[in-house]
Amino acid sequence: MKGIILAGGSGTRLYPLTLVSSKQLLPIYDKPMVYYPLCTLMLANIKDILVISTPEDTPRFRNLLGDGHQFGIKLSYAVQEKPEGLAQAFIIGEDFIGDDSCAMILGDNIFYGNGLGYMLKNAAKRADDGKASVFGFYVEDPRPFGVVDFDITGKVLSLEEKPTNPKSNYAVTGLYFYPPGVSKLAKKVKPSVRGELEITSLNTMYLEQDLLCCSVMGRGFSWFDTGTIDSLMQAASFIQMIQNLQGIIVSAPEEVAYRYQMISKEQLVAAAQAYGNSTYGKRLLDVASGRFIK
Ligand code: G1P
Repeated sequence: MKGIILAGGSGTRLYPLTLVSSKQLLPIYDKPMVYYPLCTLMLANIKDILVISTPEDTPRFRNLLGDGHQFGIKLSYAVQEKPEGLAQAFIIGEDFIGDDSCAMILGDNIFYGNGLGYMLKNAAKRADDGKASVFGFYVEDPRPFGVVDFDITGKVLSLEEKPTNPKSNYAVTGLYFYPPGVSKLAKKVKPSVRGELEITSLNTMYLEQDLLCCSVMGRGFSWFDTGTIDSLMQAASFIQMIQNLQGIIVSAPEEVAYRYQMISKEQLVAAAQAYGNSTYGKRLLDVASGRFIK
């Protein structure tokens, strides 16, 4: 299975923070935002990942993340010339995806919860078996999001993008798993009124073929879409609290790679040392020393 991180857009809701920096490179406590979605894909056991960003920001992501060898994965890069919608990522990534199944995560989506890796690996397996998956998360106000409605058995009844009168309180998070052939289907998506190839339109195509699953992330999960200044701060405070309460590190790609045996202890220590005297580097050294909870 392949993975895509879509880190496009101009982040206008965060101006002036994003005037000269990419939103997805802003800090969420002790690490750049993009580390979080990267780890989410790695938890699904995805090792071949394409980062898609704007013409200005793509080189910045490449400078930060390189070819991925330090995380035991392969990273490549592609440009989305204009913000023409999330579904366009599968057209841009057509050659990269080839005949594989593919997951996509938005560069500003942060997930945290026990059993997340298990949930993601199940979605990856479903994708290999021909079914797409989205993840529903209960929110107080779902109107700024895609909204999914489902029945008591979990069967998806409807999907709507930013509805005025939502049919449920379940937001569709920015994480999607698709079976082989997603690029072909993405090419059939027609631009919406706002001129974008909406991911909701693509998901609706799977729904119409009865090929869409929705996994609900229950109360034990946290999800942040860090597109606004308050959600950015909330996410940073959350990560600070969890990390310092337990003395752990959340969403460090080196830690995930080490736990998944994709890099050795020596590589982990070398990576930690490359981060110099930072808290992040120190936490990685703690991981190498085996002091952390499993
Ligand atoms: C996008 C999707 C929306 C989804 C959201 C999750 O919205 O269009 O369906 O709920 O991401 O972060 P955007 O953030 O582009 O407005």
